[in-house]
Amino acid sequence: MCCQPLLFVLCYFMVAPHYCIGSLKNNSCVVEYGRADCSHLSLRNIPSDLPWNITSLDMSHNLMVGIELSSLSLYPGIIHLNVSHNSIAKLNEYLCQKLPLLQTIDMNKNQVHLLKKEELSYCNSLISLNLASNRLKLQGEPFSALQKLKFLDVSNNNLKTAKLGSISQLPSLVGLNLAFNDFTTLKRDDFAFLNESSFLKVLNLSALSLKTFESGCFHPISGLHTLILDKCNMGTLVISKVCSELSETAIENLSLQKMKLVTLTNTTFRGLGKTNLTVLDLSSNGMGKIEDGSFRWLPRLQTLILCNNNLKHVTKGTFLGLKSLKNLQLMKALVKSHTSSTPIIDDFSFQPLSTLESLMLQKTAVREITENTFTGLTSLTELDMSWSSYAALKNITKKTFVSLSNSPLRTLNLIGTAITRINSGSFSFFGNLTTLLLDHNFIKQNLTGQEFEGLGQLQELYMANNGQSLNLTAESFVHTPNLTVLTLGKSLRAMALNLDLSAFQNLSKLNILDLSNNNIANIKENLLQGLVNLKVLRLQHNNLARLWKSGNLGGPVLFLKEAQKLTTLQLDYNGLDEIPLMTLKGLTHLKELSLSNNILNNFKETVFDDLTSLRVLRLAKNFITTVRPEVFRTPFTNLSLLMMEKNPYDCTCESILWFVTWLNSTNVTSIPGVRHQYMCNTPLVYSNRPVIDFDPSSCKDATPFEALFILSSTAVIILTLTALLVRFHGWRFQFYWNIMINRTLGFSDAKDKEGREFEFDAYIIHAAVEKRWVDRTLVPLEQKGYCFCLEHRDFIPGMSMIESIVSNLRKSRKIIFVITESLLNDPWCRQFKAHHAFHQVIEHSRDSVVLVFLQEVHDYKLSRALFLRRGMLRSCCLLDWPVYKERIPAFQQKLLIALGMTNQLKE
Ligand SMILES: *[C@@H]1O[C@H](CO)[C@@H](O)[C@H](O)[C@H]1NC(C)=O
Ligand SMILES: *[C@@H]1O[C@H](CO)[C@@H](O)[C@H](O)[C@H]1NC(C)=O
Ligand SMILES: *[C@@H]1O[C@H](CO)[C@@H](O)[C@H](O)[C@H]1NC(C)=O
Ligand SMILES: *[C@@H]1O[C@H](CO)[C@@H](O)[C@H](O)[C@H]1NC(C)=O
Ligand SMILES: *[C@@H]1O[C@H](CO)[C@@H](O)[C@H](O)[C@H]1NC(C)=O
Ligand SMILES: *[C@@H]1O[C@H](CO)[C@@H](O)[C@H](O)[C@H]1NC(C)=O
Ligand SMILES: *[C@@H]1O[C@H](CO)[C@@H](O)[C@H](O)[C@H]1NC(C)=O
Ligand SMILES: *[C@@H]1O[C@H](CO)[C@@H](O)[C@H](O)[C@H]1NC(C)=O
Repeated sequence: MCCQPLLFVLCYFMVAPHYCIGSLKNNSCVVEYGRADCSHLSLRNIPSDLPWNITSLDMSHNLMVGIELSSLSLYPGIIHLNVSHNSIAKLNEYLCQKLPLLQTIDMNKNQVHLLKKEELSYCNSLISLNLASNRLKLQGEPFSALQKLKFLDVSNNNLKTAKLGSISQLPSLVGLNLAFNDFTTLKRDDFAFLNESSFLKVLNLSALSLKTFESGCFHPISGLHTLILDKCNMGTLVISKVCSELSETAIENLSLQKMKLVTLTNTTFRGLGKTNLTVLDLSSNGMGKIEDGSFRWLPRLQTLILCNNNLKHVTKGTFLGLKSLKNLQLMKALVKSHTSSTPIIDDFSFQPLSTLESLMLQKTAVREITENTFTGLTSLTELDMSWSSYAALKNITKKTFVSLSNSPLRTLNLIGTAITRINSGSFSFFGNLTTLLLDHNFIKQNLTGQEFEGLGQLQELYMANNGQSLNLTAESFVHTPNLTVLTLGKSLRAMALNLDLSAFQNLSKLNILDLSNNNIANIKENLLQGLVNLKVLRLQHNNLARLWKSGNLGGPVLFLKEAQKLTTLQLDYNGLDEIPLMTLKGLTHLKELSLSNNILNNFKETVFDDLTSLRVLRLAKNFITTVRPEVFRTPFTNLSLLMMEKNPYDCTCESILWFVTWLNSTNVTSIPGVRHQYMCNTPLVYSNRPVIDFDPSSCKDATPFEALFILSSTAVIILTLTALLVRFHGWRFQFYWNIMINRTLGFSDAKDKEGREFEFDAYIIHAAVEKRWVDRTLVPLEQKGYCFCLEHRDFIPGMSMIESIVSNLRKSRKIIFVITESLLNDPWCRQFKAHHAFHQVIEHSRDSVVLVFLQEVHDYKLSRALFLRRGMLRSCCLLDWPVYKERIPAFQQKLLIALGMTNQLKE
């Protein structure tokens, strides 16, 4: 024992080198695949002990104030250098000379101020230079040597002009970022230095307070494709000016987000009329109004993004002229707030958009959908109205979507739109629809099948999370025979699947069926009949335990036998405690089986034997104690993931020796938490210790124990037999024993004088209905010289009931309770007689009560009604009325003994 710490320390030092990189990460670089990561190490200099051949060095987030060449020159192969987030004040002019292969310099967030031509003069391989967030002041033509530079970022530098040079330069430039600087004007010749940059495509001018655009300012860069003006607070007039300046360019993509552009007029975009603009992003502008005809200048526009605005009214003129539009994004563009009314979409508003393919209306609110709301969208394939609020969607009828009847819609998303009912034929125009999403609604109805009429091409129907109020019928899906995916999780009434004919019978193409979270307790064996292609079945969070019980009326319900192609089966949280032998037979394709959070304990041998393809097995949180090879060898063979944690394992040789050996030897199966979540529950020595700490060697020498085992098992068998004999014939032995004893010693151990104080041998308390039993069984004993007090016979007429009871109880040596349910429910008995008898027992310290049980009665009830427990009385005073006639003499014998028993407690 005392050696263990030493051993541990020794081991630590032996394996320590493996940990070096991990544990020392705090103050040394991580080198991997030629990349050195020295970020966040509070370094002041570049380390000199890195591999000589690194190609990438990350020195970001350190404390460098300059770049020291002596250490950099150790790594001449560097291609990418990141020194961002330091305090470097100056770019070293020999940097590129020492690093001839350098392609990328990231210096953003430093203190670089003066920048001269010399400092970049050797950087002719440089492709990307990031100088964002410094304090740049350019001197001369610092960038003129950068023949190969493609990307230049000088954003956030307080630059006073966009003019980065006065001679033509940067012939390879593709992207230029000038955002977050201080200039407000773009002069005619500002971009003249780029007039030979024929590759320039992207110009970022975000967050500038631009007020003036001189004519021809974009002329030198007329090849421009993308212009970003986000967060430039410039007003509608200036935007018109920008647009007219862009008219001569190759502009395709214009981003105008967050510009507080609250109104668009019919001339704002006039300047773009001659361009080939294809993407226009106007999101997050708080835009309230779009004048009719605002977009008619943009006939080639393909994507229009209007998300996050505040439009109140969409009219016939709003989208006029968008002849090529394919994609219109209106997410949160029409919203209802407590200060404003619900927005309106006029009839025929979308009519100009005959080429539109995708309409995104997520999270919008619109007053109504009429018969002409979507008219004219003759190319629309995708409509997304999820999480929106449209009164018309509450009760969907044939009229709701009639305006889409000429649209070749393929996907309709109605998630979270507060639908409560879908009437028959509502979707009948959507002959091309393949995907219908109806999750997160409140649909509450009998699905008769008419709802989905006309959806013959439908492949995916999602109806999860619908408040568990759907009923199915055998016809629910007759009109959708092409379904491959059907989700009904948390949507069905608990009885919805208890149908004579399965609702899914015609879905021969179905691949995925989700019935989880429905509290389903009753299903028929034919549930999956006809689902010959079913691969994934989700049944978790239901209540299927009864179906697989061997004691189930009519035998276990083997509903899986119809789904022989299953690859994934999820049955977690079902209260399962049994898996019948035949349940999983034939599932040779099954790859994933989840049975966690049930109450499974013992598995029948061979129950998993057909699962030869299993890769994932989940059995966490059950009551598994034993993992035997007869059950688990086959399913474990090719497993890649096992989750069997949190079971109360019994760490004995018989129960888990094989499992532990397997755990220790497997190298293909991943077993998360094997050290901390697989704990022994029993026996005590191993309690709460990890299963894998179980010592297999303790099982090896079993031979000396064999004899002991045989001996002990023989003893157990003999004991069992004896117990059985006593259980079934014990009364005979007792009978003969009593007779023998009494022949010799007489019935009574009570002293003679004890009897003389009393008038009756026993007072008999019984329920009225047991009068017959008493008359037939007890009264005949009086012929043997006993004298009983019976209420209906011996009470003195005229005396009050209470008085009679009290006085007769006093006069009786014993009290016999004839215990039946009706006695315990008899108020007289409960309130008074029992109380009195109880007093007699306690006060006089006498063993005077005899209980005769005619029925099995729980001790708890007994004590509630009579204040007595079986344990309070001697066993000979507790008599059971025998079920078998031949035992009645023995019963009488016992009763006489009980009556003869002394009342004085033995000293
Ligand atoms: C760097 O050189 C070492 C040997 O000095 C070699 O093992 C390693 O593979 C090289 N790395 C690269 C990325 O070339
Ligand atoms: C617009 O595209 C067409 C054909 O793609 C082309 O001929 C025309 O020059 C382009 N116009 C501009 C302004 O780039
Ligand atoms: C723009 O709208 C105004 C009214 O708001 C109208 O008078 C004018 O004719 C329209 N201009 C164009 C070019 O359509
Ligand atoms: C839904 O609409 C149908 C057809 O217009 C109508 O018969 C039914 O009463 C409506 N149901 C509700 C709940 O409004
Ligand atoms: C489905 O779309 C095709 C074109 O993709 C079209 O020819 C056909 O008429 C459409 N069918 C229906 C029922 O809309
Ligand atoms: C579903 O059927 C049950 C009876 O089978 C019925 O009580 C319940 O109202 C039905 N639910 C709906 C939404 O019609
Ligand atoms: C749904 O069907 C059940 C019988 O299966 C019936 O009792 C119930 O009224 C029906 N509900 C409606 C809304 O038709
Ligand atoms: C199911 O899909 C196939 C192939 O796309 C198609 O031929 C068949 O008509 C569809 N079934 C129905 C009922 O529309």
